[in-house]
Amino acid sequence: MILEIVKYPDPFLKSEAVKVDSVDDSVRKLIDDMVETMYYARGIGLASLQVRDPRRVVVLDVPDEDEKEREKGKNLMALVNPEIVYSEGETIYEEGCLSLPGVTADVERAAKVRVKALDRDGKQIEIEAEGLLAIALQHELDHLNGILFIDRLSRLKRELVKRKYKKSLETEERAI
Ligand code: NI
Repeated sequence: MILEIVKYPDPFLKSEAVKVDSVDDSVRKLIDDMVETMYYARGIGLASLQVRDPRRVVVLDVPDEDEKEREKGKNLMALVNPEIVYSEGETIYEEGCLSLPGVTADVERAAKVRVKALDRDGKQIEIEAEGLLAIALQHELDHLNGILFIDRLSRLKRELVKRKYKKSLETEERAI
């Protein structure tokens, strides 16, 4: 089922997602719906709060750097209760977000991360990531703590991006 994506400045995006006690069928259903919604919206990652669900779940399908055409499902992962257990280095990447359509900004993050999580069967897994996957993991995990990429910007830059976003919303309202 395709779910509606919560858009900024909806306060739900600022809440803190809650830990999943057991990965049961209702969690797997949420994962399936989030995957469907992510592909529909042409995103490479999606966090539960973005579909108005408070459970700590993220899904990602980050293309390989040499992947010219999107190969859906190739790198698909679903993570329950994900946690960054190690990070290293620094990188800057121009990020966007399905909850803030139409705006992007350069965000500074760790270059490498190690993430611990449960998979859709409730099995403990660990992922080592660098490049775009490391960035996407940090972006999605931030969502679970109510943090958006604009919160990672300087105040001045954040105000500029917010103004641009507001403007694009107004334009959208006038579109026919
Ligand atoms: Ni996002």
